[in-house]
Amino acid sequence: MRLAVAGGGSTYTPELIDGFARLRETLPVSELVLIDPDTERLELVAGLARRIFAAQGHEATVTTTADVDAGIDGADAVLLQLRVGGQAARLRDETWPLECGCVGQETTGAGGLAKALRTVPVVLDIAERVRRTNPDAWIIDFTNPVGIVTRALLQAGHKAIGLCNIAVVLQRKFARLLDVSPEEVHLDHYGLNHLTWELGVRLGGPDGTDVLPKLLADHGEDFARELRMPRRVLETLGAFPSYYLRYFYAHDEAVGELRTKPSRAEEVAAIERELLTMYGDPELREKPELLSRRGGAFYSEAAVALAASLLGSETSRSVQVVNVRNDGTLPYLPDDAVIEVPAEIGPEGAVPLPVTGAGPLQTGLVAHVTAYEHLALDAALHGGRERVFKAMLAHPLIGQYDRAEALTDLLAANNREHLEWA
Ligand code: G6P
Ligand code: MN
Repeated sequence: MRLAVAGGGSTYTPELIDGFARLRETLPVSELVLIDPDTERLELVAGLARRIFAAQGHEATVTTTADVDAGIDGADAVLLQLRVGGQAARLRDETWPLECGCVGQETTGAGGLAKALRTVPVVLDIAERVRRTNPDAWIIDFTNPVGIVTRALLQAGHKAIGLCNIAVVLQRKFARLLDVSPEEVHLDHYGLNHLTWELGVRLGGPDGTDVLPKLLADHGEDFARELRMPRRVLETLGAFPSYYLRYFYAHDEAVGELRTKPSRAEEVAAIERELLTMYGDPELREKPELLSRRGGAFYSEAAVALAASLLGSETSRSVQVVNVRNDGTLPYLPDDAVIEVPAEIGPEGAVPLPVTGAGPLQTGLVAHVTAYEHLALDAALHGGRERVFKAMLAHPLIGQYDRAEALTDLLAANNREHLEWA
């Protein structure tokens, strides 16, 4: 089996390599092609990738290329993990929204919109090339903002599915607390990418007993501390929110903090410099511990499991949390919205499981952000100041016209080299 990774020069790649090597029974990869325009970085990452495979006795080959068409040729699946503009662009996304009192974050709010505008055209270009050379290949997208990018891919008719690591991280966290294996924990995961709640935590599978009320009672104090929200909020929700919901439930508090502490982009850039130095060491043969300081923990697990079910036989079907077309699953959303829910995964794709248990606290925000995502995608596809302004106006964290005007100008000024109209 041949897999291609666009953005293969990412410092996250050893996380994937480690997953491919450890889980080779589940997903027999024989050839991995890393594609990246930054050839220097690509060679450092590929060198370590080969050493990890060799150390683990995995015979898969690792090749590199800067040429997308050559890289995707013959691939059974193409994983997208690229970042247009690198950490420098992320730093700007995290900074300028703060000038208007809005959260500065790479996927949430105005910064997330900027990232969507930069990313969607690049991803669609790659997807078109995949369709031309390999119409049967699956496209697995981790590139943020995953909800909007996946919606762009599906709307253009690509064979794509979106993935985030939050659900697998929580699955493992709850398994540890319950002293069971992660496979025994089923999450009633509900919402949109980076806007999700665990409405239930079930033992044994989708029909198992819901132990979330007990987890909230036993560990509520710890959960509240980790999420940095009052315990009372978790009790009111009766659900476990993803940490991105702090940007909604504690927006102004988060803005205050983001204004004073170093940005995540700067932190990540420092971690990446150190990682790349380590990757260049010919003695290093495993993914370094330092990589766990990035947010993408366990994403290799999720990616391998997903690819195995998509590319495997009927027997490798599984239930996983993915980003998928709504098609009536959340009846109050349009069919073409992309939602993040548990789905049955097999060679034909993902079929969402029915969801229950959401109330107005979830549906209100999900509907609101879905409308924003619709307009954000329109702006990413067709460009222009007016479309961006409209998306800003529709975002629940922006909304007011004066902020939306100012943020639209800031977005344009900070993204001139990426956006034709700006
Ligand atoms: C989580 C999210 C990813 C995001 C990452 C950021 O894993 O699910 O979508 O990219 O955090 O991590 P970083 O180390 O770049 O801040
Ligand atoms: Mn994510």
